[in-house]
Amino acid sequence: MAQKIIIDTDPGQDDAVAILLALASPELEVLGITAVAGNVPLALTARNARMVLELAGHTEVPVYAGCDRPLRHTLVTAEHVHGRTGLDGPDLPDPQMPLSEGHAVDFLIDTLRSEPEGSVTLCPLGPLTNVAKALTRAPDIGPRIARIVLMGGAYFEVGNITPAAEFNIYVDPEAADIVFKSGVPLTVLPLDCTHKALVTSPRNEAFRALGTPVGIAVAQMTDFFERFDREKYGSDGAPLHDPCVIAWLLRPGLFTGREINVEVETVSDLTRGMTVADWWGVTDRPANALFIGGIDADGFFALLTERLARL
Ligand code: RIB
Ligand code: CA
Repeated sequence: MAQKIIIDTDPGQDDAVAILLALASPELEVLGITAVAGNVPLALTARNARMVLELAGHTEVPVYAGCDRPLRHTLVTAEHVHGRTGLDGPDLPDPQMPLSEGHAVDFLIDTLRSEPEGSVTLCPLGPLTNVAKALTRAPDIGPRIARIVLMGGAYFEVGNITPAAEFNIYVDPEAADIVFKSGVPLTVLPLDCTHKALVTSPRNEAFRALGTPVGIAVAQMTDFFERFDREKYGSDGAPLHDPCVIAWLLRPGLFTGREINVEVETVSDLTRGMTVADWWGVTDRPANALFIGGIDADGFFALLTERLARL
């Protein structure tokens, strides 16, 4: 029986690769995609999600538009990383498939209420606004969620949008605070993990060597996406953040982490969005998240490349 998931996302080249990995994996059933404002404004994230589904030939998956701004702050976007469209790199056609009727938050609530309790995993890949709104509007769905497996946060790796905070958490720290305090089983893929998943040139060439529209498009996406990280960190390739979420579902053995307490800074402007991870257990705050610190990067890219070849 395939694991049912909902991907909440702000595509974003790395989000796109995560969506493709999920679509290529028979272990997973993607019930729907909920778009959120993040890397680029909502109209573009909702557009990009549909373009990725059409690239993969999976237009049966519904896409719902969600929140166009964070709960409290004004929206911060990341065109400097992802380009004006959010999916710069490949030349993909405008989407033909329509957005599904209804708001993403309603889709999350309705689906979690109608699917068997504990049968649906949420995979947030962007700011947590949609998920937090669903949990707040319908508290009854919390116990019905199997697990939330999200990309976000940082501890030893520190921040990528400020010295203290990772982008997804920084954009909507209030939403993240709601999710981290929800009591829902939580797996967190932070920069501590994703910065070890670099698309080096050989890995990027392996995507291109697939010779398929998907393989070539992914190589073009990561070619574009990496210039920011190469310039900032001097790294050989871009970190493939969001596909780590899907890979953890498929092969958790590729990752290492600890069940610890993680809380989110929402008060200080200086450290807004910082994920305060009690990695060394120095407080008596109860564990609320499996915080992932390590990844078998070669194993991750072997899995990703093999799965992309199937599309
Ligand atoms: O900080 C990395 C995260 O922010 C990724 O999810 C990327 O897509 C952006 O949303
Ligand atoms: Ca993302």
